[in-house]
Amino acid sequence: MNELETLVAKAKQQFGECTNPADLENAKALYLGKSGEITALLKSLAQLSVEEKKAKGALINQAKQEIESALQSRREHLSNVELNRQLASEALDVTLPGRVRHRGGLHPVSLTLSRIEAIFRSMGFDVAQGPEIETDWFNFTALNTPADHPARSMHDTFYVEGGNLLRTHTSPMQIRYAMDHVQHHQDALKSGQRIPEIRVIAPGRTYRVDSDATHSPMFHQCEGLWLGENISFKDLKVVFTEFCKTFFETEDLKLRFRPSFFPFTEPSAEIDIQFSSGPLAGRWLEVAGSGQVHPQVVKNMGLDPENYIGFAFGMGPDRLTMLRYGVNDLRLFFDGDMRFLHQFN
Ligand code: PHE
Repeated sequence: MNELETLVAKAKQQFGECTNPADLENAKALYLGKSGEITALLKSLAQLSVEEKKAKGALINQAKQEIESALQSRREHLSNVELNRQLASEALDVTLPGRVRHRGGLHPVSLTLSRIEAIFRSMGFDVAQGPEIETDWFNFTALNTPADHPARSMHDTFYVEGGNLLRTHTSPMQIRYAMDHVQHHQDALKSGQRIPEIRVIAPGRTYRVDSDATHSPMFHQCEGLWLGENISFKDLKVVFTEFCKTFFETEDLKLRFRPSFFPFTEPSAEIDIQFSSGPLAGRWLEVAGSGQVHPQVVKNMGLDPENYIGFAFGMGPDRLTMLRYGVNDLRLFFDGDMRFLHQFN
């Protein structure tokens, strides 16, 4: 082997020993860099005659090209190694089962609340929201409930700090909504004008110290209030009957207004419904409390009971949901068991 062949063989071997791109570039400099061996040989040509330059120059260039191509193929090899290493470390197992994205759905009680809202909106009712932590005045006093009423005892009501309580019903919303309405129309009222009637429902969470298959410490109610110049018990019957028939999607339904007592209505009635077919046929089922708004309550709202009269009701959306879907234990709604909840969507 002549001198050049030895040099090419040495370069090839050295490149072959490089296991990373940085080492390879350092090895390249030994041959092709500014003070590399090939560079030095090319520089030495300057001392030779023209004839010798041609002959020797061609040989050196050939050696240079061989070294360059050995360098290039080693570069490619090393970058393939790197790529393969990356591919291996990021390997995808395409045989793994996919992650299922479950579709969310509305809770059955939420479905009922939207139905209730849609039906009452179609009858011209506004929908209002109010606080769940309530003052004693809004929850009891303004609703004509005397200080010794059993609902005010610790056995029935959750009291919180500062003398407030978790509202035991949505009825305080009658007062809140009516007072806002009065405030809004105070100029008209002062000048002795009539103000627009109040027609509102107020759905939401309510709380009582109570827990069994048909009672939960947190439950839902939906209040209704229609107050105007001449709104009577007859209007309550029409509105509530219409509501029930639309809600249960049947004409095949009887309503019964059973005399009862609430401090904030007079007269008062429990509303029972009866289906004439289906699994509950023939049974009277209580769905709401109701009555004509008590004159003292109308006064507490800031209105003159001589001029404003109407009805209120408070129904149980949880109960309505149980009846509509045939659920027999209220607690199922609040356990969060997906096997139960999936059935409604
Ligand atoms: N607030 C009553 C209850 O919780 C229901 C009711 C509302 C009764 C409005 C009459 C009028 O039982």
